[in-house]
Amino acid sequence: MPGQNQHPKFQMSQNPSPPIDQQTLARLEQRLGHVHARQRLGIEHDHEAVFGHGRSFFHPENWYSSHTLFKAALKFTGLYAVGQRNAQKIRILTNPVPLPNLPSAFHNFTILHITDLHADLNPEPMHRLALILPGLQYDICVLTGDYRGQTFGPFDAALETLRRLRAHIRTPVYAVLGNHDSIRMLPAIEDMNIRMLMNESIPIARDQHHIHLAGVDDAHYYRADNVHQAAHAIPPGTVSILLSHTPEIYRQAAHAGFSLMLSGHTHGGQICLPGSIPITLDASLPRALGAGPWTYASLTGYTSVGVGCSIAPVRFHCPPEITLHQLIRPADSSKAAPANAT
Ligand SMILES: [Fe+2]
Repeated sequence: MPGQNQHPKFQMSQNPSPPIDQQTLARLEQRLGHVHARQRLGIEHDHEAVFGHGRSFFHPENWYSSHTLFKAALKFTGLYAVGQRNAQKIRILTNPVPLPNLPSAFHNFTILHITDLHADLNPEPMHRLALILPGLQYDICVLTGDYRGQTFGPFDAALETLRRLRAHIRTPVYAVLGNHDSIRMLPAIEDMNIRMLMNESIPIARDQHHIHLAGVDDAHYYRADNVHQAAHAIPPGTVSILLSHTPEIYRQAAHAGFSLMLSGHTHGGQICLPGSIPITLDASLPRALGAGPWTYASLTGYTSVGVGCSIAPVRFHCPPEITLHQLIRPADSSKAAPANAT
């Protein structure tokens, strides 16, 4: 954006995004409002800085040279092929979610949760996911961000892969953006019949009862989230689910009264020590919230380790996943199956 501050010392992008066209800008401003659209675009313009933005100080995903070094080190040690094979073994996890106040009409309501595709960087996992999707049973699907491999540059390849996957996912599909996604991707994703939740909520009806689904823009790097705006239209005391790419806003979500938060971002560490111990989560977050189910105050949460990889298409001691969240009334929770892998 013209007039925005630049950080020439830390400009790491080798392939910056092209200027936005007026038609896309007008569509974003109409969809999001002038402030949200201009703010997100402006921060994207600054975003190649490795240090000092977002919730954490260091952003290795923005440091292009680290990707090449990392891959070279893995290939030198012979671990690259092993990590690639690990990254293709997508697990299908079931997560029972007991929720007080859940209307009986929503007992066993199932949410397919897919996150962190990094679609252009992970062609083989995307192919395997396309084979898995038609066999799944669920009521709605949610996508919690990071469709693009890099945090900058072109996004057409990621969108094309998402478009192919979308053909295998039943409607309705709801989504939020992650810290690897440009706001410019939003019109194309909505054109795929994916409802983006940009600091807003929608009611979901069943037999004249409602639960509410909200979503926020990326809170990790762009900090374009607005939890109270997302929660504004949700009646107090009703079951409400928040989609946030990063779980780092767990406190805000809990105290805003959300019942459940679904997130990704951490990749569970992606490169872990034996025992699934992450080396880094790239998040300002207690480790207990880095992967799988968790609770904070009255908030139930789940952090998916995601499908794809970033920086390099490898995983160690942290296999990829898609998750089926099964909402249950607490009185019936003993009947639900425990979390498991299939
Ligand atoms: Fe990611």
